[in-house]
Amino acid sequence: MARALHLNLFINGRGHHEASWRAPGASSLALTDIDYYAGMAERAERACFDSVFLADQLALAPDIAQAPRTWLEPVTVLAALAMRTTRIGLIATCSTTYTEPFNLARQFASIDHISRGRVGWNIVTSWLATAAANYGDTGVVTHAGRYEIAEEFCRVVSALWDSWSDDAVLDDREAGVYARGDAVRRIDHRGAHYQVAGPLNMPRGPQGRPVFVQAGSSDTGKRFAARWAEAVFTAQMEKATARDFYAELKAYGAEEGRSGDQVLILPGLSPVIGGTEAEAQRMARDLNDLTDPEVGRSRLSGRFGGHDFSHLPLDRPLSPEDFPDPAAVQAARSRTEVIIGLVRREKPTLRQLLGYLAGARGHYVTAGTPEQIADLIEDWFRDGAADGFNLMPPVLPASLDVFIEEVVPILRKRGLFRGEYAAETLRGHYGLQRPDVTF
Ligand SMILES: Cc1cc2nc3c(=O)[nH]c(=O)nc-3n(C[C@H](O)[C@H](O)[C@H](O)COP(=O)(O)O)c2cc1C
Repeated sequence: MARALHLNLFINGRGHHEASWRAPGASSLALTDIDYYAGMAERAERACFDSVFLADQLALAPDIAQAPRTWLEPVTVLAALAMRTTRIGLIATCSTTYTEPFNLARQFASIDHISRGRVGWNIVTSWLATAAANYGDTGVVTHAGRYEIAEEFCRVVSALWDSWSDDAVLDDREAGVYARGDAVRRIDHRGAHYQVAGPLNMPRGPQGRPVFVQAGSSDTGKRFAARWAEAVFTAQMEKATARDFYAELKAYGAEEGRSGDQVLILPGLSPVIGGTEAEAQRMARDLNDLTDPEVGRSRLSGRFGGHDFSHLPLDRPLSPEDFPDPAAVQAARSRTEVIIGLVRREKPTLRQLLGYLAGARGHYVTAGTPEQIADLIEDWFRDGAADGFNLMPPVLPASLDVFIEEVVPILRKRGLFRGEYAAETLRGHYGLQRPDVTF
């Protein structure tokens, strides 16, 4: 198989559609029940997906009354999933703004050992303004400040994961030597934000370092990804912008001396799949009919750092002037650019915009037959818009089950997607080099 398509399952709530939890086909398990997450991971593993991903936010969303926005802490869940699966990659979000590097390094190295080399870390800077109040309430960190911290954070954790040589452990009970003393070293990091002596207090994991995943698409975010990310999740509402993003990030990676196949790009895809296109579109409308525009309005405000949209009528066409300048937004900058781009292109009413965002928060939403979804995936994959997809099923597990039963076999018949795992580790699935360390 020439170039392999990569599929990641993004497990989120009871699906990515805003009203998924009220929809037929949504799981009846509690979101605090580990069997819910394990059930999704086991489905994805049976279908030979590369990985599953768990997102995280560090504050409770204001619309908890209308939406089940709770979940178990992702890193803890990965440890449980590592025992319920054997091959699929396990990716979790962990914040660089509100986590200590030494703690994160220990957690992800531990899960790499527990999972026998299947862990990935989604590096987020935590754009949610309300998170700051849970971490000393020292005020919202600016967009630029968050990325500056993240840069140093990644240098520190990388040095910690590399503070043991791969061959450090001898475990020579005869000679009484556990590790080669000169094969474990301090890192003595002294920076603007962190002072960390090291070494890490455990040997390197099977992958050396977790797979570095990132999902920031602003200019700063893209430059950061070009230096650090091995897999990049992105929200793109059109193929054209996805192609531009793809080309730009690969070019930035090349400027950093990295080859394109070591910086994979996986746009989000949220497909509503029906026997006919008309049926799929009816299913999408039915989901949207379950939404509450006021929930959508408060989420839109959150995306724009708390901007007040309460004055906007629901049924008047919008214009970019109805929104704050993205350059001034300290929250998720690229997502605000994607939203304003849609408003500029299509001049939707607020109700229409909220209906679109209800689908998958600004990721690519589509409704069609299995053939049509497979065509879209093949087209973006072959035409420089994606190395794979971050699958965001509208309703879990129903939409995932249909995708696995109906779309995956088509992708296999076309020689695009694996029929069985060839590798044991997440790096192996993604075709990523292992950062070996010997000293
Ligand atoms: C697929 C995907 C998953 C994300 N997961 C998280 C997450 O779990 N937690 C979080 O705080 N931000 C998450 N983000 C937001 C990004 O980390 C980033 O803050 C956002 O894309 C804005 O980045 P920018 O300011 O560089 O444009 C995610 C974004 C995408 C596209």
